[in-house]
Amino acid sequence: MTALRQTRTALTPKAAPFAIRAERASDVVAREALLDRCFGENRHLRTCQRLRDGRAPAGGLAFSATVEGPLSRIRGSQSLPNSIRTTADSKFACGDSSGNFPEDALREGARNFRNATRLVGTLRLWHVSAGGVPALMLGPLAVDDTFRKLGVGTTLMEHALAAARAHGHGAVILLGDAPYYGRFGFSDRNTGSLSLPGPFEPARLLALELVAGSLDGARGMIAATGARVPKPRARRTQPANLAA
Ligand SMILES: CC(C)(COP(=O)(O)OP(=O)(O)OC[C@H]1O[C@@H](n2cnc3c(N)ncnc32)[C@H](O)[C@@H]1OP(=O)(O)O)[C@@H](O)C(=O)NCCC(=O)NCCS
Repeated sequence: MTALRQTRTALTPKAAPFAIRAERASDVVAREALLDRCFGENRHLRTCQRLRDGRAPAGGLAFSATVEGPLSRIRGSQSLPNSIRTTADSKFACGDSSGNFPEDALREGARNFRNATRLVGTLRLWHVSAGGVPALMLGPLAVDDTFRKLGVGTTLMEHALAAARAHGHGAVILLGDAPYYGRFGFSDRNTGSLSLPGPFEPARLLALELVAGSLDGARGMIAATGARVPKPRARRTQPANLAA
């Protein structure tokens, strides 16, 4: 358990070393930008997002992959997501992150974003009920396209699954490509009787039992069960003549 709290660092043959660590509130700006780049700005319409809306990720099960160094020495370019231009904007525009971040964290995130620490990967796990059986839903997993095929995705997956196991969870479910997730043991063996709150391809609904038999009897709708997060407060627009 203690080992999982430590940052895991891996050397890559072609790029700067990357580290896997617990996601921080200050990751919000770079994480939203990464997800926009990987999944497009319509990503909030995806079926799996219905299991994340208004919920917090499972405790201790949200991870970031980062590389350190001046941006000039780090491969690729990084741009702000279209919806986020300032730290204040990011507070209100961070989708499943729900905008609940203290100013200091947002300032640190913006500083990291421009300077030394670059977020190159993200992975979260969420509490769900799989037709009455407690499980975790994995996603989104995303790696910056200039840092792909370097093992970042694999290291994030292995780290997250080890953490889920260490926390005593029985099963992880996801919607994704079997040729990629099969290498971590995911298959559609236990998901044939499960459904999602929206359109999905059944062959992409995959599961991994961390504890053998934990998905026995799992049938029906997968539903969110994670802690609810407060909705971000709407910004009040002041009449022009009062805004001094
Ligand atoms: C999928 C993703 C996370 C992999 O990250 P990564 O850091 O490149 O992964 P790794 O370096 O650990 O592994 C790369 C290997 O996975 C393979 N791979 C990547 N995506 C794959 C897919 N969809 N299907 C099958 N294999 C895939 C690569 O071809 C590569 O194979 P190789 O090892 O034989 O060269 C990354 O490509 C990504 O962010 N894609 C866009 C978002 C996405 O699709 N997320 C997953 C949602 S289903």
